[in-house]
Amino acid sequence: MKVLMLNGSSHINGTTFTALNEIGKALNNEGIDYEIFQIGADAVRDCIGCNQCTPDGCAYTKDNVNEFIAKAKEADAFVFGTPVYYAHPSGRILSFLDRVFYSSSKTFAFKPAASVAVARRGGTVASFDVLNKYYGISQMPVVSSTYWNNVYGRNENEAVMDLEGLQTMRNVAHNMAWMLKCIEAGKNAGVALPATEREAKTNFIK
Ligand SMILES: Cc1cc2nc3c(=O)[nH]c(=O)nc-3n(C[C@H](O)[C@H](O)[C@H](O)COP(=O)(O)O)c2cc1C
Repeated sequence: MKVLMLNGSSHINGTTFTALNEIGKALNNEGIDYEIFQIGADAVRDCIGCNQCTPDGCAYTKDNVNEFIAKAKEADAFVFGTPVYYAHPSGRILSFLDRVFYSSSKTFAFKPAASVAVARRGGTVASFDVLNKYYGISQMPVVSSTYWNNVYGRNENEAVMDLEGLQTMRNVAHNMAWMLKCIEAGKNAGVALPATEREAKTNFIK
């Protein structure tokens, strides 16, 4: 089993990475593989609603969004991590995930996920809520922990001092491992995926 994580910071080894890495180490201890996908520091295009999505994902192919989608198809669970910018997730992770989910949300259905938000001081729970919205609309079981999934620090050197934050990361990993093993056991016992109704689609026009 493999968990695909997304580092929504341009800092490859910063606070967000430190939090995700703590989750990864705990997953490995549970016998589960992981990969941290780096959005990086290059420009990330936002979704322009062109509705030209392809089987590979987004019609715009000059950044790494479709590379992430290809990996997501093979993954069993996800962790999206972001630094807090002005009390919201980084603009780059929102641009990235809007295109991932608008083009490929079915790739994520029934796969567990958790969000992580890191900050120097404030805005973590609001950012955490925003990332969780992608899961709610995509039929993804949300994995919880012993606090909301936040780590505090201006950078990676401060993040390692947030002992409860790192403990929260390890607990989300333990809970995700447990959920993945339960899903696997259910699959082996013949529990089918739930049926999905999609006939009704009513826009708010009145
Ligand atoms: C543009 C910008 C806005 C920020 N806004 C906030 C904020 O609203 N609240 C906060 O506590 N920290 C804020 N920070 C600090 C970062 O969240 C913090 O340094 C974080 O640890 C960076 O994570 P990273 O190393 O993974 O990039 C901001 C940083 C930047 C660059």
